[in-house]
Amino acid sequence: MLQKMTGEPEDRETICDSLSSLVEGCRLPVKMRNSDDWPLAEVISIRDGEGMKYFYVHYIDFNKRLDEWVSEDRLDTRKVQFPRKDGGSSQSGLQTPNRRVETEPSRPETPPNTPGELVNGNAVLAAALNKKLTRKRKMPSIEAETAPEVPVAPIIGSGALVTSEPGKRTSGSLVTHHHDDVVTRMKNIEMIELGHKRIRPWYFSPYPQELVNLTCIYICEFCLKYRKSRKCLERHLKKCNLRHPPGNEIYRKGVISFFEIDGRKNKAYAQNLCLLAKLFLDHKTLYYDTDPFLFYVMTQYDARGFHIVGYFSKEKESTEDYNVACILTMPPYQRKGYGKLLIEFSYELSKFEGKTGSPEKPLSDLGLLSYRSYWAQTILDILVTQNPTADNEKPQITINEICEMTSIKKEDVISTLQNLNLINYYKGQYIITISQEMVQNHLAAMEKRSLRIDSKCLHWTPKDWSKRAKCVHSVVGKNLNIK
Ligand code: ACO
Ligand code: ZN
Repeated sequence: MLQKMTGEPEDRETICDSLSSLVEGCRLPVKMRNSDDWPLAEVISIRDGEGMKYFYVHYIDFNKRLDEWVSEDRLDTRKVQFPRKDGGSSQSGLQTPNRRVETEPSRPETPPNTPGELVNGNAVLAAALNKKLTRKRKMPSIEAETAPEVPVAPIIGSGALVTSEPGKRTSGSLVTHHHDDVVTRMKNIEMIELGHKRIRPWYFSPYPQELVNLTCIYICEFCLKYRKSRKCLERHLKKCNLRHPPGNEIYRKGVISFFEIDGRKNKAYAQNLCLLAKLFLDHKTLYYDTDPFLFYVMTQYDARGFHIVGYFSKEKESTEDYNVACILTMPPYQRKGYGKLLIEFSYELSKFEGKTGSPEKPLSDLGLLSYRSYWAQTILDILVTQNPTADNEKPQITINEICEMTSIKKEDVISTLQNLNLINYYKGQYIITISQEMVQNHLAAMEKRSLRIDSKCLHWTPKDWSKRAKCVHSVVGKNLNIK
Protein backbone atom coordinates (compact mmCIF):
# COMPACT_ATOMS: atom_id res chain seq x y z
CA MET A 1 0.00 0.00 0.00
CA LEU A 2 1.38 3.41 -0.95
CA GLN A 3 0.34 6.49 0.95
CA LYS A 4 0.06 9.86 -0.77
CA MET A 5 2.27 12.51 0.73
CA THR A 6 0.66 15.67 -0.64
CA GLY A 7 0.44 18.52 1.82
CA GLU A 8 2.45 16.70 4.46
CA PRO A 9 4.94 18.74 6.49
CA GLU A 10 8.63 18.49 5.59
CA ASP A 11 9.87 17.37 8.98
CA ARG A 12 8.74 13.78 8.80
CA GLU A 13 11.39 11.50 10.29
CA THR A 14 11.01 8.90 7.62
CA ILE A 15 8.69 8.39 4.76
CA CYS A 16 7.70 4.82 4.19
CA ASP A 17 6.53 4.37 0.64
CA SER A 18 5.95 0.68 0.85
CA LEU A 19 4.63 -1.76 3.38
CA SER A 20 7.45 -4.08 2.48
CA SER A 21 9.94 -1.80 4.21
CA LEU A 22 8.15 -2.14 7.53
CA VAL A 23 10.00 -4.35 9.96
CA GLU A 24 9.50 -5.47 13.53
CA GLY A 25 10.26 -2.58 15.85
CA CYS A 26 8.89 0.11 13.51
CA ARG A 27 6.54 2.63 15.06
CA LEU A 28 3.71 4.31 13.21
CA PRO A 29 0.13 5.49 13.75
CA VAL A 30 -2.37 2.62 13.66
CA LYS A 31 -6.16 2.75 13.74
CA MET A 32 -7.35 1.17 16.95
CA ARG A 33 -10.15 -1.37 16.96
CA ASN A 34 -13.58 0.05 17.87
CA SER A 35 -12.29 3.60 17.76
CA ASP A 36 -11.42 6.40 15.37
CA ASP A 37 -8.09 7.03 17.06
CA TRP A 38 -4.72 6.47 15.38
CA PRO A 39 -2.30 6.20 18.29
CA LEU A 40 1.39 5.47 17.80
CA ALA A 41 2.02 1.73 17.82
CA GLU A 42 5.01 -0.57 17.58
CA VAL A 43 5.08 -3.46 15.14
CA ILE A 44 5.85 -6.59 17.16
CA SER A 45 5.44 -9.16 14.41
CA ILE A 46 4.49 -9.46 10.75
CA ARG A 47 2.81 -12.36 8.97
CA ASP A 48 1.55 -13.04 5.46
CA GLY A 49 -1.94 -14.29 4.83
CA GLU A 50 -4.34 -14.38 1.88
CA GLY A 51 -2.26 -12.05 -0.26
CA MET A 52 -2.09 -9.50 2.53
CA LYS A 53 0.30 -8.69 5.30
CA TYR A 54 -0.85 -8.65 8.91
CA PHE A 55 0.89 -6.74 11.67
CA TYR A 56 0.81 -7.46 15.40
CA VAL A 57 0.97 -4.07 17.06
CA HIS A 58 1.36 -2.67 20.56
CA TYR A 59 -0.14 0.78 21.16
CA ILE A 60 2.66 2.64 22.90
CA ASP A 61 0.74 4.48 25.62
CA PHE A 62 -1.83 1.79 26.24
CA ASN A 63 -1.98 -1.42 28.19
CA LYS A 64 -0.78 -4.50 26.39
CA ARG A 65 -4.24 -6.06 26.49
CA LEU A 66 -5.13 -3.83 23.54
CA ASP A 67 -2.38 -5.33 21.36
CA GLU A 68 -3.84 -6.86 18.21
CA TRP A 69 -3.33 -8.10 14.67
CA VAL A 70 -4.23 -5.41 12.16
CA SER A 71 -4.52 -5.47 8.40
CA GLU A 72 -2.56 -3.15 6.12
CA ASP A 73 -5.37 -0.62 5.75
CA ARG A 74 -5.15 0.27 9.44
CA LEU A 75 -1.55 1.48 9.19
CA ASP A 76 -0.65 5.09 8.50
CA THR A 77 2.59 4.54 6.64
CA ARG A 78 3.19 8.23 6.03
CA LYS A 79 5.13 8.56 9.25
CA VAL A 80 7.23 5.65 10.30
CA GLN A 81 9.95 5.56 12.92
CA PHE A 82 12.39 2.80 12.11
CA PRO A 83 14.22 0.86 14.80
CA ARG A 84 17.75 2.06 15.44
CA LYS A 85 20.33 -0.05 13.67
CA ASP A 86 22.69 -0.06 16.64
CA GLY A 87 20.18 -1.99 18.73
CA GLY A 88 19.70 -0.67 22.21
CA SER A 89 18.59 -1.56 25.62
CA SER A 90 14.85 -1.58 25.02
CA GLN A 91 12.83 -4.70 25.79
CA SER A 92 12.58 -5.76 22.19
CA GLY A 93 16.20 -5.09 21.53
CA LEU A 94 15.19 -2.30 19.19
CA GLN A 95 15.11 1.38 19.76
CA THR A 96 13.42 4.23 18.08
CA PRO A 97 14.46 7.85 18.34
CA ASN A 98 11.33 8.96 20.12
CA ARG A 99 10.80 5.94 22.28
CA ARG A 100 8.58 6.92 25.16
CA VAL A 101 8.55 5.26 28.53
CA GLU A 102 5.14 3.94 29.55
CA THR A 103 4.54 6.40 32.33
CA GLU A 104 1.87 8.52 30.75
CA PRO A 105 -1.08 9.55 32.92
CA SER A 106 -3.88 7.05 32.93
CA ARG A 107 -6.87 7.40 30.70
CA PRO A 108 -10.43 6.82 31.80
CA GLU A 109 -11.50 3.32 31.18
CA THR A 110 -14.57 2.10 29.42
CA PRO A 111 -14.41 -1.58 28.63
CA PRO A 112 -16.32 -2.20 25.43
CA ASN A 113 -19.57 -4.03 25.87
CA THR A 114 -19.83 -6.77 23.33
CA PRO A 115 -23.27 -8.12 22.57
CA GLY A 116 -24.41 -11.51 23.73
CA GLU A 117 -22.14 -13.78 25.64
CA LEU A 118 -19.04 -12.65 23.85
CA VAL A 119 -16.92 -10.83 26.33
CA ASN A 120 -14.34 -8.50 24.99
CA GLY A 121 -11.58 -8.43 27.54
CA ASN A 122 -9.82 -5.53 25.88
CA ALA A 123 -10.60 -3.14 28.65
CA VAL A 124 -8.99 0.19 28.02
CA LEU A 125 -6.76 1.69 30.61
CA ALA A 126 -3.53 3.56 30.11
CA ALA A 127 -0.35 1.75 30.84
CA ALA A 128 0.47 4.39 33.41
CA LEU A 129 0.11 2.17 36.42
CA ASN A 130 1.34 -0.89 34.68
CA LYS A 131 4.65 -2.02 36.09
CA LYS A 132 6.95 -4.14 34.02
CA LEU A 133 7.34 -7.77 34.79
CA THR A 134 10.50 -8.00 36.78
CA ARG A 135 10.65 -11.64 37.59
CA LYS A 136 9.45 -14.40 35.34
CA ARG A 137 9.30 -18.05 36.11
CA LYS A 138 9.01 -20.85 33.63
CA MET A 139 5.85 -22.83 33.22
CA PRO A 140 6.14 -25.88 31.02
CA SER A 141 3.23 -26.47 28.69
CA ILE A 142 0.88 -29.08 29.99
CA GLU A 143 -0.43 -31.47 27.41
CA ALA A 144 -4.20 -31.54 27.29
CA GLU A 145 -4.47 -35.24 26.77
CA THR A 146 -1.71 -36.28 29.13
CA ALA A 147 -2.63 -34.12 32.10
CA PRO A 148 -3.41 -36.39 35.03
CA GLU A 149 -7.06 -36.72 36.00
CA VAL A 150 -8.07 -34.24 38.65
CA PRO A 151 -9.10 -36.09 41.80
CA VAL A 152 -12.77 -35.79 42.65
CA ALA A 153 -13.29 -33.32 45.47
CA PRO A 154 -14.26 -34.24 48.99
CA ILE A 155 -17.84 -33.52 50.08
CA ILE A 156 -19.00 -29.98 49.58
CA GLY A 157 -19.91 -28.38 52.85
CA SER A 158 -16.88 -29.66 54.59
CA GLY A 159 -14.80 -26.96 56.15
CA ALA A 160 -12.25 -29.59 57.01
CA LEU A 161 -8.62 -28.71 56.69
CA VAL A 162 -6.48 -30.28 54.07
CA THR A 163 -3.53 -32.00 55.63
CA SER A 164 -0.48 -31.86 53.47
CA GLU A 165 3.20 -31.18 53.60
CA PRO A 166 4.44 -28.10 51.84
CA GLY A 167 6.20 -28.71 48.58
CA LYS A 168 9.59 -27.38 47.78
CA ARG A 169 9.65 -24.10 45.95
CA THR A 170 11.68 -24.24 42.82
CA SER A 171 11.19 -20.91 41.24
CA GLY A 172 13.82 -20.36 38.60
CA SER A 173 13.89 -17.08 36.78
CA LEU A 174 13.31 -17.16 33.09
CA VAL A 175 15.93 -15.49 31.00
CA THR A 176 14.32 -14.52 27.76
CA HIS A 177 16.13 -14.06 24.49
CA HIS A 178 14.68 -11.98 21.72
CA HIS A 179 12.64 -14.74 20.07
CA ASP A 180 10.95 -15.77 23.33
CA ASP A 181 10.30 -12.17 24.05
CA VAL A 182 8.45 -11.61 20.79
CA VAL A 183 6.49 -14.83 21.25
CA THR A 184 5.42 -14.12 24.81
CA ARG A 185 4.57 -10.54 23.98
CA MET A 186 1.85 -11.69 21.59
CA LYS A 187 -1.56 -13.11 22.44
CA ASN A 188 -1.53 -16.68 21.24
CA ILE A 189 -5.11 -17.73 22.00
CA GLU A 190 -7.82 -15.97 20.05
CA MET A 191 -10.83 -17.03 22.07
CA ILE A 192 -11.75 -19.39 24.89
CA GLU A 193 -15.10 -20.96 25.63
CA LEU A 194 -15.57 -21.54 29.33
CA GLY A 195 -18.95 -23.01 30.19
CA HIS A 196 -21.46 -20.85 28.38
CA LYS A 197 -19.15 -17.88 28.11
CA ARG A 198 -16.88 -16.89 25.27
CA ILE A 199 -13.97 -14.77 26.37
CA ARG A 200 -11.30 -13.03 24.34
CA PRO A 201 -7.91 -13.37 26.09
CA TRP A 202 -5.74 -10.37 26.88
CA TYR A 203 -2.23 -11.83 26.99
CA PHE A 204 0.02 -14.76 26.10
CA SER A 205 -0.35 -18.00 28.03
CA PRO A 206 1.80 -21.09 27.45
CA TYR A 207 -0.95 -23.46 26.28
CA PRO A 208 0.36 -26.35 24.15
CA GLN A 209 1.43 -25.41 20.65
CA GLU A 210 -1.31 -27.47 18.98
CA LEU A 211 -3.97 -25.27 20.62
CA VAL A 212 -2.42 -22.04 19.51
CA ASN A 213 -3.86 -20.32 16.42
CA LEU A 214 -7.22 -22.11 16.63
CA THR A 215 -10.23 -19.83 16.43
CA CYS A 216 -11.32 -20.99 19.87
CA ILE A 217 -10.21 -23.38 22.60
CA TYR A 218 -12.75 -25.13 24.82
CA ILE A 219 -12.25 -25.34 28.56
CA CYS A 220 -14.21 -27.46 31.04
CA GLU A 221 -15.49 -24.88 33.49
CA PHE A 222 -15.25 -27.30 36.43
CA CYS A 223 -11.88 -29.08 36.08
CA LEU A 224 -10.38 -26.45 33.71
CA LYS A 225 -9.00 -29.02 31.27
CA TYR A 226 -8.72 -27.66 27.77
CA ARG A 227 -9.64 -29.20 24.44
CA LYS A 228 -9.12 -28.18 20.84
CA SER A 229 -12.75 -28.48 19.72
CA ARG A 230 -16.25 -28.46 21.11
CA LYS A 231 -16.61 -32.10 20.10
CA CYS A 232 -13.55 -33.06 22.16
CA LEU A 233 -14.89 -31.10 25.10
CA GLU A 234 -18.28 -32.81 24.83
CA ARG A 235 -16.48 -36.15 25.00
CA HIS A 236 -14.66 -34.91 28.10
CA LEU A 237 -17.86 -33.66 29.74
CA LYS A 238 -19.41 -37.12 29.47
CA LYS A 239 -16.60 -38.40 31.70
CA CYS A 240 -16.05 -35.38 33.93
CA ASN A 241 -18.07 -35.60 37.13
CA LEU A 242 -16.94 -32.37 38.71
CA ARG A 243 -19.58 -29.71 39.21
CA HIS A 244 -17.42 -27.53 41.44
CA PRO A 245 -13.71 -26.87 41.89
CA PRO A 246 -11.81 -29.58 43.77
CA GLY A 247 -10.82 -28.93 47.38
CA ASN A 248 -12.89 -27.87 50.35
CA GLU A 249 -15.76 -25.47 50.26
CA ILE A 250 -14.80 -23.18 53.14
CA TYR A 251 -17.35 -20.40 52.63
CA ARG A 252 -20.91 -20.22 51.41
CA LYS A 253 -23.37 -17.36 51.53
CA GLY A 254 -26.29 -17.34 49.14
CA VAL A 255 -24.97 -18.45 45.76
CA ILE A 256 -21.37 -17.43 46.47
CA SER A 257 -18.91 -20.08 47.63
CA PHE A 258 -15.16 -20.22 48.12
CA PHE A 259 -13.17 -23.41 47.63
CA GLU A 260 -9.69 -23.87 49.06
CA ILE A 261 -7.44 -25.88 46.78
CA ASP A 262 -4.00 -27.10 47.75
CA GLY A 263 -1.60 -26.67 44.84
CA ARG A 264 0.20 -29.82 45.88
CA LYS A 265 -2.85 -32.04 46.22
CA ASN A 266 -4.64 -30.80 43.11
CA LYS A 267 -1.71 -30.04 40.87
CA ALA A 268 -3.46 -30.54 37.52
CA TYR A 269 -6.31 -28.23 38.51
CA ALA A 270 -3.91 -25.65 39.94
CA GLN A 271 -1.77 -25.68 36.80
CA ASN A 272 -4.79 -25.38 34.54
CA LEU A 273 -6.04 -22.49 36.66
CA CYS A 274 -2.66 -20.75 36.30
CA LEU A 275 -2.72 -21.25 32.53
CA LEU A 276 -6.22 -19.82 32.33
CA ALA A 277 -5.35 -16.91 34.61
CA LYS A 278 -2.22 -16.07 32.62
CA LEU A 279 -4.49 -15.15 29.70
CA PHE A 280 -5.54 -12.11 31.77
CA LEU A 281 -2.48 -11.47 33.91
CA ASP A 282 0.56 -10.10 32.20
CA HIS A 283 2.83 -8.52 34.71
CA LYS A 284 2.72 -11.44 37.06
CA THR A 285 4.93 -14.33 37.79
CA LEU A 286 3.67 -17.65 36.54
CA TYR A 287 4.61 -20.44 38.89
CA TYR A 288 5.15 -23.82 37.35
CA ASP A 289 5.42 -25.31 40.78
CA THR A 290 2.02 -24.97 42.38
CA ASP A 291 2.96 -26.89 45.56
CA PRO A 292 3.73 -23.82 47.69
CA PHE A 293 0.35 -22.23 46.96
CA LEU A 294 -3.23 -22.41 48.05
CA PHE A 295 -5.88 -21.34 45.56
CA TYR A 296 -9.14 -19.76 46.69
CA VAL A 297 -11.69 -20.12 43.92
CA MET A 298 -14.91 -18.11 44.18
CA THR A 299 -17.94 -19.63 42.48
CA GLN A 300 -21.54 -18.75 41.78
CA TYR A 301 -24.04 -21.57 42.12
CA ASP A 302 -26.92 -22.46 39.82
CA ALA A 303 -28.69 -25.68 38.87
CA ARG A 304 -25.77 -26.67 36.60
CA GLY A 305 -23.12 -26.34 39.29
CA PHE A 306 -20.61 -24.00 40.92
CA HIS A 307 -19.28 -21.69 38.20
CA ILE A 308 -15.90 -20.03 38.58
CA VAL A 309 -16.16 -16.27 38.96
CA GLY A 310 -12.62 -15.54 40.07
CA TYR A 311 -9.82 -16.66 42.33
CA PHE A 312 -6.73 -15.66 44.18
CA SER A 313 -3.65 -17.65 45.03
CA LYS A 314 -1.72 -17.38 48.25
CA GLU A 315 1.64 -18.69 49.34
CA LYS A 316 1.38 -21.20 52.17
CA GLU A 317 4.26 -19.36 53.80
CA SER A 318 5.17 -15.82 52.83
CA THR A 319 8.31 -14.24 54.20
CA GLU A 320 7.10 -10.87 52.93
CA ASP A 321 3.63 -11.01 54.50
CA TYR A 322 1.88 -11.38 51.17
CA ASN A 323 -1.68 -12.57 51.59
CA VAL A 324 -2.40 -12.70 47.83
CA ALA A 325 -0.08 -13.79 45.04
CA CYS A 326 -2.34 -13.45 41.99
CA ILE A 327 -5.94 -12.32 41.85
CA LEU A 328 -8.38 -12.47 38.96
CA THR A 329 -12.03 -11.88 38.23
CA MET A 330 -13.03 -13.68 35.04
CA PRO A 331 -13.75 -10.93 32.47
CA PRO A 332 -17.52 -11.64 32.15
CA TYR A 333 -17.85 -10.92 35.87
CA GLN A 334 -15.56 -7.89 36.07
CA ARG A 335 -16.64 -4.46 37.31
CA LYS A 336 -19.50 -5.85 39.33
CA GLY A 337 -17.81 -5.85 42.74
CA TYR A 338 -16.43 -9.41 42.67
CA GLY A 339 -12.81 -8.19 42.70
CA LYS A 340 -13.40 -6.37 45.95
CA LEU A 341 -15.19 -9.41 47.30
CA LEU A 342 -12.12 -11.53 46.55
CA ILE A 343 -9.91 -8.92 48.20
CA GLU A 344 -12.20 -8.73 51.23
CA PHE A 345 -12.06 -12.50 51.53
CA SER A 346 -8.24 -12.47 51.42
CA TYR A 347 -8.18 -10.02 54.34
CA GLU A 348 -10.76 -12.08 56.18
CA LEU A 349 -8.35 -15.03 55.99
CA SER A 350 -5.58 -12.79 57.33
CA LYS A 351 -7.85 -11.74 60.22
CA PHE A 352 -8.41 -15.41 61.06
CA GLU A 353 -4.63 -15.85 60.98
CA GLY A 354 -4.17 -12.83 63.24
CA LYS A 355 -1.80 -11.21 60.75
CA THR A 356 -1.64 -8.22 58.47
CA GLY A 357 -1.05 -8.88 54.79
CA SER A 358 -0.53 -7.20 51.45
CA PRO A 359 -0.83 -8.26 47.81
CA GLU A 360 2.30 -9.43 46.01
CA LYS A 361 4.00 -6.72 43.98
CA PRO A 362 3.95 -5.52 41.29
CA LEU A 363 0.24 -4.88 41.03
CA SER A 364 -1.36 -4.53 37.62
CA ASP A 365 -3.13 -1.29 36.73
CA LEU A 366 -6.52 -2.85 37.46
CA GLY A 367 -5.16 -4.55 40.58
CA LEU A 368 -3.92 -1.23 41.94
CA LEU A 369 -7.27 0.47 41.24
CA SER A 370 -9.15 -2.30 42.98
CA TYR A 371 -6.86 -2.44 46.01
CA ARG A 372 -6.80 1.34 46.40
CA SER A 373 -10.56 1.41 46.30
CA TYR A 374 -10.84 -1.47 48.81
CA TRP A 375 -8.29 0.05 51.20
CA ALA A 376 -9.90 3.49 51.02
CA GLN A 377 -13.40 2.17 51.72
CA THR A 378 -12.27 -0.14 54.51
CA ILE A 379 -10.20 2.51 56.30
CA LEU A 380 -12.77 5.25 55.83
CA ASP A 381 -15.43 2.97 57.22
CA ILE A 382 -13.48 2.66 60.44
CA LEU A 383 -12.71 6.37 60.65
CA VAL A 384 -16.28 7.55 60.10
CA THR A 385 -17.67 5.15 62.68
CA GLN A 386 -15.19 6.15 65.41
CA ASN A 387 -16.76 7.62 68.53
CA PRO A 388 -15.13 10.22 70.78
CA THR A 389 -13.68 8.79 73.97
CA ALA A 390 -15.07 11.68 76.04
CA ASP A 391 -17.33 14.72 75.59
CA ASN A 392 -15.80 17.45 73.45
CA GLU A 393 -12.95 15.09 72.54
CA LYS A 394 -12.07 14.09 69.03
CA PRO A 395 -12.15 10.36 68.29
CA GLN A 396 -8.70 8.80 68.57
CA ILE A 397 -7.26 5.83 66.77
CA THR A 398 -3.73 4.75 65.97
CA ILE A 399 -2.46 3.42 62.66
CA ASN A 400 -1.62 0.15 64.41
CA GLU A 401 -5.22 -0.18 65.57
CA ILE A 402 -6.44 0.30 62.00
CA CYS A 403 -4.02 -2.44 60.90
CA GLU A 404 -5.29 -4.79 63.59
CA MET A 405 -8.93 -4.17 62.75
CA THR A 406 -8.52 -4.58 59.01
CA SER A 407 -5.44 -6.83 58.61
CA ILE A 408 -4.23 -4.28 56.06
CA LYS A 409 -0.45 -3.86 56.27
CA LYS A 410 0.84 -0.65 57.83
CA GLU A 411 2.45 0.69 54.62
CA ASP A 412 -0.83 0.27 52.76
CA VAL A 413 -2.78 2.05 55.52
CA ILE A 414 -0.36 4.96 55.45
CA SER A 415 -0.27 5.20 51.65
CA THR A 416 -4.08 5.11 51.57
CA LEU A 417 -4.38 7.93 54.10
CA GLN A 418 -1.85 9.91 52.07
CA ASN A 419 -3.60 9.23 48.75
CA LEU A 420 -6.87 10.34 50.25
CA ASN A 421 -5.08 13.45 51.47
CA LEU A 422 -6.40 12.98 54.98
CA ILE A 423 -3.25 13.51 57.02
CA ASN A 424 -2.58 17.03 58.27
CA TYR A 425 0.03 18.39 60.62
CA TYR A 426 -1.66 20.55 63.20
CA LYS A 427 -0.23 22.10 66.39
CA GLY A 428 2.65 19.68 66.55
CA GLN A 429 0.78 16.50 65.82
CA TYR A 430 -0.63 14.53 62.92
CA ILE A 431 -4.37 14.58 62.69
CA ILE A 432 -6.84 13.11 60.23
CA THR A 433 -9.46 15.45 58.87
CA ILE A 434 -12.38 14.11 56.88
CA SER A 435 -14.73 16.53 55.20
CA GLN A 436 -18.48 16.11 55.48
CA GLU A 437 -18.59 15.68 51.70
CA MET A 438 -16.17 12.78 51.89
CA VAL A 439 -18.27 11.12 54.58
CA GLN A 440 -21.39 11.45 52.42
CA ASN A 441 -19.62 10.06 49.35
CA HIS A 442 -18.25 7.20 51.36
CA LEU A 443 -21.63 6.27 52.82
CA ALA A 444 -23.22 6.40 49.38
CA ALA A 445 -20.47 4.14 47.93
CA MET A 446 -20.85 1.65 50.77
CA GLU A 447 -24.57 1.48 50.22
CA LYS A 448 -23.94 0.50 46.61
CA ARG A 449 -21.45 -2.17 47.63
CA SER A 450 -23.89 -5.00 48.04
CA LEU A 451 -21.46 -7.91 47.70
CA ARG A 452 -19.83 -8.40 51.09
CA ILE A 453 -18.09 -11.18 52.96
CA ASP A 454 -19.90 -12.45 56.02
CA SER A 455 -17.25 -13.77 58.40
CA LYS A 456 -19.83 -16.05 60.07
CA CYS A 457 -19.99 -18.06 56.84
CA LEU A 458 -16.25 -18.76 56.77
CA HIS A 459 -15.45 -22.20 58.16
CA TRP A 460 -11.71 -22.25 58.22
CA THR A 461 -8.81 -22.65 60.59
CA PRO A 462 -5.42 -21.42 59.46
CA LYS A 463 -2.59 -23.91 59.26
CA ASP A 464 0.95 -23.31 60.38
CA TRP A 465 2.80 -24.47 57.30
CA SER A 466 6.23 -23.89 58.83
CA LYS A 467 5.46 -26.43 61.59
CA ARG A 468 4.26 -28.87 58.97
CA ALA A 469 7.54 -28.48 57.09
CA LYS A 470 9.52 -29.27 60.26
CA CYS A 471 7.27 -32.23 61.01
CA VAL A 472 7.73 -33.63 57.50
CA HIS A 473 11.50 -33.22 57.72
CA SER A 474 11.65 -35.07 61.00
CA VAL A 475 9.58 -37.93 59.58
CA VAL A 476 11.87 -38.09 56.58
CA GLY A 477 14.84 -38.09 58.98
CA LYS A 478 13.40 -40.98 60.97
CA ASN A 479 12.79 -43.01 57.85
CA LEU A 480 16.34 -42.42 56.77
CA ASN A 481 17.63 -43.59 60.16
CA ILE A 482 15.62 -46.78 59.97
CA LYS A 483 17.12 -47.49 56.58
N1 ACO B 1 -11.56 0.50 34.72
C1 ACO B 1 -11.65 1.38 35.73
N2 ACO B 1 -11.86 1.01 37.00
C2 ACO B 1 -11.94 -0.30 37.24
C3 ACO B 1 -11.84 -1.29 36.23
C4 ACO B 1 -11.64 -0.84 34.93
N3 ACO B 1 -11.56 -1.71 33.92
N4 ACO B 1 -11.97 -2.51 36.78
C5 ACO B 1 -12.15 -2.32 38.08
N5 ACO B 1 -12.14 -0.98 38.37
C6 ACO B 1 -12.32 -0.35 39.67
C7 ACO B 1 -13.80 -0.34 39.97
O1 ACO B 1 -14.39 0.83 39.56
C8 ACO B 1 -13.82 -0.51 41.47
O2 ACO B 1 -13.61 0.70 42.13
P1 ACO B 1 -14.85 1.53 42.75
O3 ACO B 1 -15.70 0.54 43.47
O4 ACO B 1 -14.16 2.49 43.64
O5 ACO B 1 -15.53 2.12 41.58
C9 ACO B 1 -12.58 -1.34 41.76
O6 ACO B 1 -11.72 -1.18 40.64
C10 ACO B 1 -12.91 -2.79 41.97
O7 ACO B 1 -13.89 -3.21 41.07
P2 ACO B 1 -14.50 -4.67 41.14
O8 ACO B 1 -15.69 -4.73 40.25
O9 ACO B 1 -14.68 -5.08 42.56
O10 ACO B 1 -13.29 -5.50 40.54
P3 ACO B 1 -13.29 -6.58 39.35
O11 ACO B 1 -14.24 -7.69 39.65
O12 ACO B 1 -13.42 -5.91 38.06
O13 ACO B 1 -11.83 -7.18 39.55
C11 ACO B 1 -9.52 -7.24 39.10
C12 ACO B 1 -10.67 -6.39 39.65
C13 ACO B 1 -9.42 -8.54 39.88
C14 ACO B 1 -8.21 -6.48 39.26
C15 ACO B 1 -9.84 -7.51 37.59
O14 ACO B 1 -9.77 -6.30 36.89
C16 ACO B 1 -8.92 -8.50 36.92
O15 ACO B 1 -9.07 -9.69 37.10
N6 ACO B 1 -7.98 -7.99 36.12
C17 ACO B 1 -7.06 -8.86 35.36
C18 ACO B 1 -6.05 -9.51 36.27
C19 ACO B 1 -5.36 -8.51 37.15
O16 ACO B 1 -4.87 -7.48 36.70
N7 ACO B 1 -5.28 -8.84 38.46
C20 ACO B 1 -4.60 -8.06 39.46
C21 ACO B 1 -3.16 -8.32 39.39
S1 ACO B 1 -2.30 -7.76 40.82
C22 ACO B 1 -2.13 -9.19 41.75
O17 ACO B 1 -2.38 -10.26 41.24
C23 ACO B 1 -1.70 -9.08 43.19
ZN1 ZN C 1 -13.90 -31.41 33.36
